[in-house]
Amino acid sequence: MSARVRASAIRKRKGTRFATITAYDAAFGRLVEAAGIDVVLVGDSLGNVALGYDSTMSVTLEDMERHTAAVVRGTTRAHVIGDLPFMSYEPSDADAVRSAGRLAQAGAQSVKLEGGAARAPRVAAIVSADIPVVGHIGVQPQTAALGGGFKRRDDRETLLADARAIADAGAFALVLEMVAPDLAAEITAAIDIPTIGIGSGPHCDAQIIVIYDVLGLSAQPPPFVRPYAQLGAAVTAALRDYAGDTVAGTYP
Ligand code: KIV
Repeated sequence: MSARVRASAIRKRKGTRFATITAYDAAFGRLVEAAGIDVVLVGDSLGNVALGYDSTMSVTLEDMERHTAAVVRGTTRAHVIGDLPFMSYEPSDADAVRSAGRLAQAGAQSVKLEGGAARAPRVAAIVSADIPVVGHIGVQPQTAALGGGFKRRDDRETLLADARAIADAGAFALVLEMVAPDLAAEITAAIDIPTIGIGSGPHCDAQIIVIYDVLGLSAQPPPFVRPYAQLGAAVTAALRDYAGDTVAGTYP
């Protein structure tokens, strides 16, 4: 039996506060777990922060399988959520189940997909195949470039209906991305699964952040990010020292 944190245990955290974070490889998976964070998303933000794309639209299911498997290898206890990339679940329920199955075979304990009420049938289909699902509403980066944009969402009726539809379809948690804080609080009170906020204020059950952003490794972190380290500057300084020592003949 797996010793990893289960989706059912995360669902029971409703009403408590907990931290989640992204990771994309075994090294950061290990560090995240060492810090006591036991819910890790292998986000398709991989595309922006590690693969050099402008958006998440170019990320493939193969990319997600490879990086999900790496994070799984770097962790022992954490619940690893694999992010379903653009067009791996939209076309049909069968596509959604097949893609979710591939991430589960790569080692994910659950999958995440973007979308509101219109995607509820996909959530239900994956859950009926016994693969736990995290929903994601508010700003949806996969399709933001196609029209949705990255503007904070405050359309109350739509988002409340989306949240209820995804929860009713069987999701065990719901990401709220860039939702107005008061509305995020209302959604959190309205559904019985944990909400996981990003840029949505302090009233969600949990928070998530892109690990490169929080560690100061991103060139352009979103404005809502509070950096907890400046590793980008530290890495550059260390590499400059190494290069300088090599040129000076003091290394090795
Ligand atoms: O891809 C991602 O990293 C995400 C989170 C930021 C929620 O979807």
